[in-house]
Amino acid sequence: MSNHNVSRLFSSAVLLMALGFYLLGAQSAMAQASPLYSQCQGCHQPTGAGVPGVFPPLAGYTPAILEAKGGREYLIQVLLYGLQGSISVKGAKYQGAMPAYPQLKDEEIAGLLNHISTQWGNKFPAGQKPFTAAEVKSQRAKTMTAAQVLEARDKLGLK
Ligand code: HEC
Repeated sequence: MSNHNVSRLFSSAVLLMALGFYLLGAQSAMAQASPLYSQCQGCHQPTGAGVPGVFPPLAGYTPAILEAKGGREYLIQVLLYGLQGSISVKGAKYQGAMPAYPQLKDEEIAGLLNHISTQWGNKFPAGQKPFTAAEVKSQRAKTMTAAQVLEARDKLGLK
């Protein structure tokens, strides 16, 4: 093999390796390991798209909730106390029950909400910081029913 060919071979190998690392990186970015979200995706789906008419979408909608006055508190309440009753999301009706997750730690709930607020193209509205365990703790002090969480949602004035 000529020197020229050896160096060609070498640079293709380097290129292939670089591509491999790039793909690996892209894959882990997509997966955004959230072991906690694995308990949500059976209903809301790994894509966050939900199931039309059955499980509401989180993708493309959580930011609208964050933007509403009281939206952050409401999101924490959904996880702590569940949600039951008729809701409408982007013109589609849902009448199911969201289970409550009081067994999760404050930081785990904060982590989950940060996950759904930043996945699938979701973003925090400008100027909003990630959820903290302290925020979760203060909602935990309230003790609400799933029906009261629905009332809280109604007050957000969501479309
Ligand atoms: C057994 C199915 C199921 C599981 C598991 C589940 N949810 Fe839900 N979730 C629902 C349903 C159904 C609703 C809507 C309830 C209603 O219609 O009143 C909902 C509502 C919500 C809402 C409020 C959406 C809105 O538009 O107000 C959020 C936020 C949410 N879920 C997040 C999560 C997260 C995070 C997890 C995992 C910890 C999770 N859910 C697990 C079924 C589920």
